[in-house]
Formats: sequence, C-alpha cells, structure tokens
Amino acid sequence: MKNNFWENLKKPFFAMAPMAGITDSSFRQMCVRFGADVVYSEMASATALVYAPEKTLEILQFEKKERPYVVQLFGAEPKHFVEATKIITKEIKPNGIDINFGCPVKKVQKQGAGAVLMKDFKKSRAIIENVINNTDLPVSIKTRTRVDNKSILDFLEFIKDLDIKALMIHGRTLAQGFSGAIDTETIKKARDFFSGVLMANGGVYSRAEAEKLLQATGVDGIGIARGALGRPWIFSEIKDLDFPKSKEEKFKIVLEHVKLAEKHKGQQGVIEMRKHLCWYAKGFEGASELRRELIQVETIRDIKKILKY
Ligand SMILES: Cc1cc2nc3c(=O)[nH]c(=O)nc-3n(C[C@H](O)[C@H](O)[C@H](O)COP(=O)(O)O)c2cc1C
Repeated sequence: MKNNFWENLKKPFFAMAPMAGITDSSFRQMCVRFGADVVYSEMASATALVYAPEKTLEILQFEKKERPYVVQLFGAEPKHFVEATKIITKEIKPNGIDINFGCPVKKVQKQGAGAVLMKDFKKSRAIIENVINNTDLPVSIKTRTRVDNKSILDFLEFIKDLDIKALMIHGRTLAQGFSGAIDTETIKKARDFFSGVLMANGGVYSRAEAEKLLQATGVDGIGIARGALGRPWIFSEIKDLDFPKSKEEKFKIVLEHVKLAEKHKGQQGVIEMRKHLCWYAKGFEGASELRRELIQVETIRDIKKILKY
C-alpha cells in the first residue's frame, strides 16, 4: 500500500513547483517556512542516477522540515527509471516521486526527455510503469497542456489505468514556452480524465491570481514557480498569513536564506545566492544599484555590508 500524502493535503493547497538550478534545499526551506504545502526537488536525471549517482544524490538531500518533499526525475530511457526509482526510494526517502513531461530546454529535448517525451505515448507509459512498479512511494507527473499535436487529454486517456496519484499541469503548450495565456479550460477538462490529485500551474504571482486560477480550473492545488523568486513569502500572502512587508523584515529573511545556503553548500552556496539576491532586490528602493553590488558578493559579510544590516 502506498502512503499517499497527496490525499492528506488540505485543499486548496499550494506547491512549490520544481525549478532546476533554483529549488535547492535552502530555497525549499524558505518556501516551507512561508507555507508551501509540498515542495519539489530540482529535476534529476534518471540516467545520471544509474551511471554516476553521487553528485545527483548529494543535490537531492533534504531536511526533515521540507516534508512533504517530492523528487522529480527526467529522462527518456525507460530502463534507467527502474534503477533510478529504486535508488531514490532507498537513498533519499522522499515523500513522492514525480516524472517530468514538461521541460522545454533544447538540451533536454534532444535526449527525448521532458516535454517531447509526452509525444511518445508508449514510451511515456513504460516510464511511468517502471517508476510505479519500483517504489512504494506515490508517483506523480508534471506535464504541459499540449506538445505539438498531442494533447494532455489524449495522453491522460492513454495512461488512465496507471496508479498516478497526482498531476500538475503547466497550462501552456510546449510552443508557448514560459509565457502566454494559461489554458484553464484544458486543465478543467483534465478532471474528467484523471482521478488523482490535480494541480494547475502557471502565471501565479499574487493571491488574486491564485484565486482566479483555482476558480477557473477547480483543481485541488496550485503550483507556483517564478512567483516565489525573491518572494518565498508568496505562499503566506496567498494563504492570508503574516508575511514580511517592510524593508527590514525582508532583509532579515534574505539573511536567513543566505545562512541556510551557506550551511548546505558552504561558500559556493553564497555565490549561488547571487541570483536570489537580485530577485529579492527587485522590490527594494534603488534596486538596480543594489543588484550591481549583490551580483558580486562572496561572503555573508559582503551581503550584510551592502544591505547595511
Ligand atoms: C528556471 C526554471 C527552471 C525550471 N525547472 C523545472 C524543472 O526542473 N522541472 C519542471 O518540471 N519544471 C521546471 N520549470 C517549470 C516550472 O516548474 C513551471 O512549470 C513554469 O515556470 C510555469 O510556472 P510559473 O508561471 O509559476 O513560473 C522551471 C522553470 C524555470 C523558470
């Protein structure tokens, strides 16, 4: 029996959607601190897990407080998903495993992975089966609404007998990439093709947008990606909880995030924080001057000096 945490999430819930190069442990912890109900890892290569797992396993480490934590796999070779799933289940022990059917990055497309994988129904099905059959964790998938001539609804029809516990639909086609209107109609229709927990994703940067998407789609939860950049408190904002408003409160949060990054990755963590610092700076007075300085920081002391904190 799979321990299906998805079913226990209070609806509507708000997930931190996966972002490669961004949703590491420190960022996930910041989102959980502000009310994210479930968080995803950065996408991890099933093939890398089979041939050289060390680095990927290190990236996927997490802290207890991040639970429920979902590890997302990407790849195009069904047999790699057998081993990768076993490794994740045994070595990482997350709350769930997700499969990526949405990534538009050219390098990933070339491998036949991510969004273009959805065009090959049979291979996609084999991959999902291989993950489900090799773990006791609940399995979810993340897709787009359409990839070329293949619609998510036909895809769901083809895999409807598989035990997929949750589905996050980024409401855009592959051709749209990361901009343009969210196809709420198709997400709404997906309900008729999928009996698990359904999430809508795309274009949510505020409480009003979250409410609008929930209303238009009738989903159980919403996935938020770019709306949390430099604003991990968006989850609190949406849930009408307390969130930082003054510059001083926000600086405190920035420092908290930097300290977590340093704890997890050492000085490299601080260097990697540069992009987050630029996103945080967006809302501050004199943002462009601040960004120019923040993009060069090497230590927490540098950051404190710039923020005069
Ligand atoms: C920098 C970046 C990295 C992303 N990496 C992933 C990923 O690893 N796996 C995935 O399924 N989606 C990934 N996405 C897509 C997001 O999860 C999300 O579907 C998309 O950004 C739309 O949501 P938003 O409008 O809230 O940003 C990424 C998006 C961005 C901007």
